[in-house]
Amino acid sequence: MNDRKVIVKVPASTANLGPGFDTLGMALSLYAWIEMSESVSGETSFQLYGDGMDGLPQDKSNLIYKVAQLVFKEAGVKVPELRIAMYSDIPLARGLGSSATAIVGALVAANALIGSPLSDQKLFQLATELEGHPDNVGASLFGGIVVSAWDGSEAQHVRIEPNSRLETLVAIPAFQLSTEKARHALPSQIAMADAVFNVGRSSLLVAALASGELGLIRHAMQDRLHQPYRAALIPGMAEILERAADFGALGAALSGAGPTLIAFVDADSPDKTELEGFLKGTLAKEGIDAETLWLSPCTSGPVVTVEERPVSSGAGFGDSATLLDRIKGEIIA
Ligand code: HSE
Repeated sequence: MNDRKVIVKVPASTANLGPGFDTLGMALSLYAWIEMSESVSGETSFQLYGDGMDGLPQDKSNLIYKVAQLVFKEAGVKVPELRIAMYSDIPLARGLGSSATAIVGALVAANALIGSPLSDQKLFQLATELEGHPDNVGASLFGGIVVSAWDGSEAQHVRIEPNSRLETLVAIPAFQLSTEKARHALPSQIAMADAVFNVGRSSLLVAALASGELGLIRHAMQDRLHQPYRAALIPGMAEILERAADFGALGAALSGAGPTLIAFVDADSPDKTELEGFLKGTLAKEGIDAETLWLSPCTSGPVVTVEERPVSSGAGFGDSATLLDRIKGEIIA
């Protein structure tokens, strides 16, 4: 019997940052928690809390269960029956990396449950294979800003520490947009001039973020690979990307595949209220309700807490506090 219970707190993420399609990601101060232990009842069970969680499968087809089994298989151990709990403050299918968070949380929790035999690089590799691109999973796994590349078999990354003055404002529309639908809107070929445009902007953005030259972000956060094609799916987006800097943003982008829009802001900016009003007002003009949140870059990856089963209990962690009791005070809702 495995005598551990693991709780993992994983950050949300924003991917692409404008020009770095499938390459750049940044972890954000919005979180999901996954708790995992071996089931003492001999049956796998789930407690899923949070917005949209009741629609997720609660059997062995559940993503967290399947990802955990992948880790056990890689490590050559067997833990077939699990007790899994999850709470998430990250809205589903809005471009804030909720699926990447579930994958990274499940990988890290399962690995910690069996004594962490797999390296972070191995977990990154597995996460990228599962997600199909490295940007969100890299940010959730390593924290901060992550620059990554994936050739279909190997994932590489470099982490950049976010500048302490960098803050973000996200506008989260009330509707969901699947990554699949947002990727479908993209062309299969692009013009050389657009490729050159993005290489320049993405390189400039990485250099600006690494060197702290925040004034360059406005010029660097431009994109011709995906945002122009996705704009039709998110009314108001084109205006927000074009004018956010006039309202005090350092730059603005579609967050991941959307529909969330993200503005980078200098924490000391005097224009925060105006910017928030502009984002909300522009979406409202299009009939779109949106929630705005001020989020900081999250500088750490998953935070892992491991508890050993009380020797005297004989049974399990059944009497101990639920996941929700434990994280109360940290969650937004
Ligand atoms: N890079 C991905 C995209 C992120 O833009 O489609 C969303 O998963």
